[in-house]
Amino acid sequence: MKILIIGGGNMGQSFAKSFINNFITDVENFAVLEKDSSKFEALKKIGIKHIYQSPTEKITEADLVVLAVKPQAFAGLATEIKNFISPEQVVLSIMAGVSIAKIEQYLGLDKIIRAMPNIAAQIGEGMSVFTSSDAVTRIELVTVQNLLESTGKNLYVANEDLIDAGTAVSGSGPAYVLYFMEAMMQAGIRLGFTKPQAEMLTYQTFKGIVEFFQNSPDDYRQLIDKIASKGGTTEAAIRFLDENKTNELIQKAVFKAYQRAKELGKF
Ligand SMILES: NC(=O)c1ccc[n+]([C@@H]2O[C@H](COP(=O)([O-])OP(=O)(O)OC[C@H]3O[C@@H](n4cnc5c(N)ncnc54)[C@H](OP(=O)(O)O)[C@@H]3O)[C@@H](O)[C@H]2O)c1
Repeated sequence: MKILIIGGGNMGQSFAKSFINNFITDVENFAVLEKDSSKFEALKKIGIKHIYQSPTEKITEADLVVLAVKPQAFAGLATEIKNFISPEQVVLSIMAGVSIAKIEQYLGLDKIIRAMPNIAAQIGEGMSVFTSSDAVTRIELVTVQNLLESTGKNLYVANEDLIDAGTAVSGSGPAYVLYFMEAMMQAGIRLGFTKPQAEMLTYQTFKGIVEFFQNSPDDYRQLIDKIASKGGTTEAAIRFLDENKTNELIQKAVFKAYQRAKELGKF
């Protein structure tokens, strides 16, 4: 299968790395279209042999075209590539917010798969939510699902609106987790640890509880209650978070991301 990734930035590189490391396709059958030449070195390091700076006839040869540009860049890109693409090609879009209908309208093709991955795709530990247009055959869908599997876990949804919801939860989610970790680390520093010490305490606490939780029969609240013994230190912290409506605030933040995904699709 010939694969072309358009946009060799953060996500384009993550996908390229996963595809190459998992022998998804031969490097000869793999190309990246990237207009920013300062990214070429990084792309070559990953092992990409064919890098194009502007659309060429070669685009026509790809069986699968992965759209990994920013949503704001899509309309411009569509005019550039429209004459080089054909209806037999399958498009996998990882752009936030841009609907299948918009992609069909701008590119004039109807085999579209929309996926929302996250940054951990780079190490094969990502989480993707994906859906597809009716024109995508079962075989094409399974093929793309296999590709997504090389980047981590994935969840198929029939309702396209859940792609924007997934964008808000797991797509942007890694940044929320890091935001919380950073705050915990900063508190550790204020309490007397050096930065490396506070980083170690924070990192291992996250890693440990994620693995522990995975093997625990409890849900989030049950486990919180187990850790927060009555009258203890954890209870004091959790009570403060609850009193300050932190849970609601985090949920509102996730909704902001969802609304932004909807806005990004309006052009
Ligand atoms: N970052 C994440 O964690 C994440 C997670 C899930 C989904 N996504 C989605 O993935 C997409 C890419 O995000 P990103 O963070 O990888 O962005 P990025 O680092 O900016 O990468 C996009 C690349 O595409 C290039 N580009 C733009 N227009 C082009 C064109 N017409 N032809 C060829 N190359 C072009 C850009 O070049 P210039 O810089 O010169 O414009 C840039 O190098 C977005 O749609 C985003 O919603 C990102």
